[in-house]
Amino acid sequence: MCGIVGYIGRKEAFPIIIKGLKRLEYRGYDSAGVALLNGDMTVFKKAGKVSDLETIVDGARTHASIGIGHTRWATHGEPNDRNAHPHLSQSGNLAVIHNGIIENYAAIKEELTKRGYTFHSDTDTEVLVNLIEEVQKQENTSLDNAVRIALNQVVGAYAIVVLNKKNPDQLLAARKGSPLVIGIGDDEFFVASDASPIIEYTKNVVYLDEQEYAIINRDGSYQIRTLGNVEKSPEIKKLEFSIETIEKGGFEHFMLKEIYEQPRAIEDSLRGRMNASQGWIKLGGFNEYSNRISRADRFLITACGTSWHSGLIGEYMIEDLARVPVEVEYASEFRYRNPIITEHDVVIAISQSGETADTLAAINLAKERQALIYGICNVIGSSIARTSHAGSYTHAGPEIGVASTKAFSTQVSLITLMALQMAEHRGTIATSRMREILYELENIPKKIEETLQLDAQIKEIASIYKDASNFLYLGRGYNFPVALEGALKLKEISYIHAEGYPAAEMKHGPIALIDENMPVVFLATNKSAYEKIVSNVQEVKARKGKIIAVVNKGDTHIRELADHLIEVPETEEILSPLITIVPLQLLAYHIAIMRGCNVDQPRNLAKSVTVE
Ligand code: AGP
Repeated sequence: MCGIVGYIGRKEAFPIIIKGLKRLEYRGYDSAGVALLNGDMTVFKKAGKVSDLETIVDGARTHASIGIGHTRWATHGEPNDRNAHPHLSQSGNLAVIHNGIIENYAAIKEELTKRGYTFHSDTDTEVLVNLIEEVQKQENTSLDNAVRIALNQVVGAYAIVVLNKKNPDQLLAARKGSPLVIGIGDDEFFVASDASPIIEYTKNVVYLDEQEYAIINRDGSYQIRTLGNVEKSPEIKKLEFSIETIEKGGFEHFMLKEIYEQPRAIEDSLRGRMNASQGWIKLGGFNEYSNRISRADRFLITACGTSWHSGLIGEYMIEDLARVPVEVEYASEFRYRNPIITEHDVVIAISQSGETADTLAAINLAKERQALIYGICNVIGSSIARTSHAGSYTHAGPEIGVASTKAFSTQVSLITLMALQMAEHRGTIATSRMREILYELENIPKKIEETLQLDAQIKEIASIYKDASNFLYLGRGYNFPVALEGALKLKEISYIHAEGYPAAEMKHGPIALIDENMPVVFLATNKSAYEKIVSNVQEVKARKGKIIAVVNKGDTHIRELADHLIEVPETEEILSPLITIVPLQLLAYHIAIMRGCNVDQPRNLAKSVTVE
């Protein structure tokens, strides 16, 4: 996510802002910038790190006691100098920094262009700052009221801070969907995305609530108002935790934070791309090539690790719904086996980092052979994203933990939309059925929240099996890829050997492994093959395996057979991976912690494998 820092007070603003941006580096970003008010509106901004920004700053022009700074995690527009924040309005009087996504920016940009506005970046933020300026002109009103009116016109999520060249004694801040904290100092104020840039100066903070904005004045006064223009009495809170804890959002590790971020991450990945009640799906990259995608003879999905597991779910979904042949390939194998690829193929590359060397090489090979390349990445402007002909970003926000969690669930969410859109284009799904699935997809974040409530129970199970030497994860249908992913999670952070297997495959050999020392995790939420999975559970029980079963809430049958029952909310079978993966992520996390492992940076692993 982007990082926001603002300052107004008696001290030099620039060093406070730069230090604050460095406190926010953990959030992940690709460019940085500052705007300072010192008679002029002085802006420095640059792609790269905050330290890169510092190299271009002219120290002679940084004297100011009010300013704003930003680290950008690109959502609209490549990571480069001109797309870096702050963005200035046409007049140069306003500067804005923004964390979030303005969904209706294109329509607003079109209208502003008609009114003579010109744009120098590809960002939604530059549209917003000019909308504010236009509203103030049209309404002939105060800037804070213009901000309020403008924000009532935008759709999406934002946390913004506005600097006004005409009023160097005031900062304006507002939020909807993205967090913003105001630090209350002695005759000074701080504004930031979280408390980490603030805590060393003051422990007194006000958290802006949804759809609220703040008018912050140099004289020490401030006001909190709703976008409905109702004044709110601010609730000052005292910061109790360390900077390190703040960076992790109050969680002990990034991985746990990212497991808990999945509901919001899925909402962000779906935002503006589907509407269940109106029955539409809009995947930008997809629509651009919809003919080639609709006429494709075959889909090849290539990825590595967790992303490959998302791809396997994609195979099941696309064949199930769109009735098109799909092959899922490990990128490292695909690139060297001289595969048959034609211009009638669509190759879908899935990659959180967008920099995985094998996946990048695989799509370069496919591109040479005229296939259409569709990228599903989390990092805007990454190599795989730029190499693909088209694609969709997962908008999961930076994933810091090496073990992929929210990237997996947002990849699966996007692949679900792709499969549905393909099925709609090919006429292989009834509109009513598509809407049913879309409605349930909208419910998934809430159901994940509900599943996360099982954390304490899962921690208890982890304490029982933390010293196991081996684990088996078994699933059928859509839960088979989840079994693979659950096993990978455990392996990579707890260093316990674990294998994922199709449940029915046990009798072809692996069942010889079962004894009283073998914990077996069953994913048993399938309704279509329920009786089959029950018999698989019985096979394991008969050999004294310890059974940890993930079942639909209210399951009665497996309850009798399992040693531990994890009851999750029921959902459409096609969407079950989004729910059943959550207990497995938590199980792996807790076991790894109990074994004293470094869950965020496991041994031997890198977040992005940019080498072969
Ligand atoms: C998953 O937890 C691992 N971090 C790893 O398998 C990862 O999924 C794989 O390296 C692919 O990375 P990518 O999604 O960035 O391409």
